[in-house]
Amino acid sequence: SHGADTLKEASPFPMGVGIRDRVFELPGDWPLLTAHYEYVTPENDMKPVAVQPQPGQWRFETADRFVDFALSKKLKVVGHCLVWAKDDRTPPWFATDGDKPASREVLLARMKTHIDTVVGRYRGKIAMWDVVNEALDDGSAYLRDSSWSRACGEEFIAKAFVYAHAADPDALLIYNDYNNELDGKFEKMVRLIESLHAQQVPMHAIGLQGHYELDMVPFEALERTLAAMQRMGMKVVVSELDIDVIPRGRWWANNGAERATLSKYDPYKDGCPPEILQRQAEQYARLFQLFRKYSDTILRISFWNLHDGQSWLNDFPWKRANHPLLFDREKKPKPAYHAVMREL
Ligand code: XIL
Repeated sequence: SHGADTLKEASPFPMGVGIRDRVFELPGDWPLLTAHYEYVTPENDMKPVAVQPQPGQWRFETADRFVDFALSKKLKVVGHCLVWAKDDRTPPWFATDGDKPASREVLLARMKTHIDTVVGRYRGKIAMWDVVNEALDDGSAYLRDSSWSRACGEEFIAKAFVYAHAADPDALLIYNDYNNELDGKFEKMVRLIESLHAQQVPMHAIGLQGHYELDMVPFEALERTLAAMQRMGMKVVVSELDIDVIPRGRWWANNGAERATLSKYDPYKDGCPPEILQRQAEQYARLFQLFRKYSDTILRISFWNLHDGQSWLNDFPWKRANHPLLFDREKKPKPAYHAVMREL
């Protein structure tokens, strides 16, 4: 890291962070934020359910304050997200028309209004947009089953990018997903990229969310993915990086049924043991060694939240004290921070 004192100074890629709602009211967070990061993503405040909970009922107050705050601190803003291609993340009114599912025409028209309004409002103020989030299926299908894919197939993805580009031609437009470096989903992502490019759709980068678990960081799949993106001339952002220190396998295996029991499972509530913090530091170091090899392909690396106390993983998929980030609850650098700094 050549004597640099902050992530931002040390890093060959722009660094960013997803931040908690109402950071503009938390001056205690500002020094850490501005010292280390160049990009900020609002964790929730620009999501469709936040900005348009009912048709034509726009709620921009928090998002506006977020953008004004960021720009006043000379931070660049990543917009997140215009279409979250999951039914439980789409405002319910969007997908229905009376008592029937909304038709392709209705859905696309609503999507266009949404994108025109949101992207248009922040035109020139948002550097990059996560345009479509989580549209690829985790199982055997190509696209995730949703009111979007049922009514429009792949077309809603293409149209979302076309509308976003028309509303702000200078914004960099991203397709964002999780596990899209893994076997199966990776091939679907390549299919999507090829299809969008054949149609000359303005999709400029792939977002790899990067929500990893301590002992399951998919280094090989990630390297294969970065190499493939480099060969295809496709840019990548690592959009939501964190390393969960508490295994979630049992929760997933039981499909959430064990939630009640697991919510009492809080192994590190009195602090994370040093050997776990060390292991996490090693995993972060390996990740950044890999990222450095692809610094011509990676446009940004953003962590999902500023410090452990604010991580969404304290709640998801069950409540417990988690320790996934580079800074602890006192906002002090962890072993993972020093390990990343050594690799940058
Ligand atoms: C999460 C937020 O961090 C939580 O606060 C919220 O309750 C649910 O959404 N992938 C994404 C993000 O693209 O929008 C998600 O953010 C985390 C997973």
